[in-house]
Amino acid sequence: MIILITGGAGFIGSTLADKLLINNNRIIVIDNFDDNYDIKLKEKNISHNLANPNYKLYRGDICDKKFINEVFKKETPDVVVHLASCVSVRNSFKCPEKYLKTNILGTLNILEGMKNNNMQKIVFASSSSVYGNCRAENFRENLKLYKPISIYAMTKLSCEQLLYTYCTNYNINTVCLRLFTVFGPRQRPDLAIRKFTQNILNNKPVEIYGDGTSCRNYTYIDDVISVICSAISYDKTPFEIINIGGDRSVTLNDVVKTISKVLNKEPKIKKLPKQIGDVERTVCDNSKAEKLLNYSPQTDFETGIKNFIKWLK
Ligand SMILES: NC(=O)c1ccc[n+]([C@@H]2O[C@H](COP(=O)([O-])OP(=O)(O)OC[C@H]3O[C@@H](n4cnc5c(N)ncnc54)[C@H](O)[C@@H]3O)[C@@H](O)[C@H]2O)c1
Repeated sequence: MIILITGGAGFIGSTLADKLLINNNRIIVIDNFDDNYDIKLKEKNISHNLANPNYKLYRGDICDKKFINEVFKKETPDVVVHLASCVSVRNSFKCPEKYLKTNILGTLNILEGMKNNNMQKIVFASSSSVYGNCRAENFRENLKLYKPISIYAMTKLSCEQLLYTYCTNYNINTVCLRLFTVFGPRQRPDLAIRKFTQNILNNKPVEIYGDGTSCRNYTYIDDVISVICSAISYDKTPFEIINIGGDRSVTLNDVVKTISKVLNKEPKIKKLPKQIGDVERTVCDNSKAEKLLNYSPQTDFETGIKNFIKWLK
């Protein structure tokens, strides 16, 4: 298959490219090496693939409509996996315009490129943040009320709706995966698990926002990659939104405890006020993913942390 990955130099995209290349697919990557975090990390994520004849990298911006059209005229992917995005909840309040432009107009450019070149399948990385401070015991895809509390979450929810419009009118088959916090090797440096681990290793205080009882359903990268591969092949229905989460939710306090247990080192804790846009909890119901994509998380939280720390060291 020919698979085009936007954001393919990032954490999830580069890991996905590696996996798909092993299985003899041809991979086309679009990435602008955005400086939201150290671009050397992104260069490192992809450097081993640059000489592979099955791998092609386009350095460019999904907001550049002309560039996107040119790529889509030259290449004929069977599937687009659209991961390019501004990604941080907190930063989305610092530069809301950039988030709306990249995430919504960028996605529109991808969809227009696909429509104009008769491409018919997209897998999109949405986010658990669309549930906002949802009170339901478990977050299910069919909940009626979505109240995103960050600019980032709002853009992801808007994209899901934009994708639905294009699917309905232009037959672009769509799977939106609502990813619940992803962790593991290559994890972004701005995410809690990586920051906590580095600070404990360097004897620096671990900064906890709020009282540490907020919780997240953490999803291990290998589980995410294998379910994206299933979504690439999924062809039963034209449009689906599917949660992808780990085996359970973990409080921030327990994240720190698990990391320090694996490192065998006591953390210094610094408590800070709760941050704007952070939701209280994410609790994933994976039953739809299980039913449609044969998904069940294979890596429990502690094993994932052990793998991550081994990689980081
Ligand atoms: N990591 C998570 O916990 C998580 C959770 C939910 C959803 N997601 C979504 O998964 C996707 C991948 O996330 P990630 O953690 O790998 O992030 P990442 O920042 O490592 O990867 C995103 C990539 O997109 C690229 N990019 C950003 N703006 C671009 C633009 N205008 N044009 C071209 N490329 C651009 C970046 O350079 C980066 O390489 C994102 O859409 C993110 O919103 C991630």
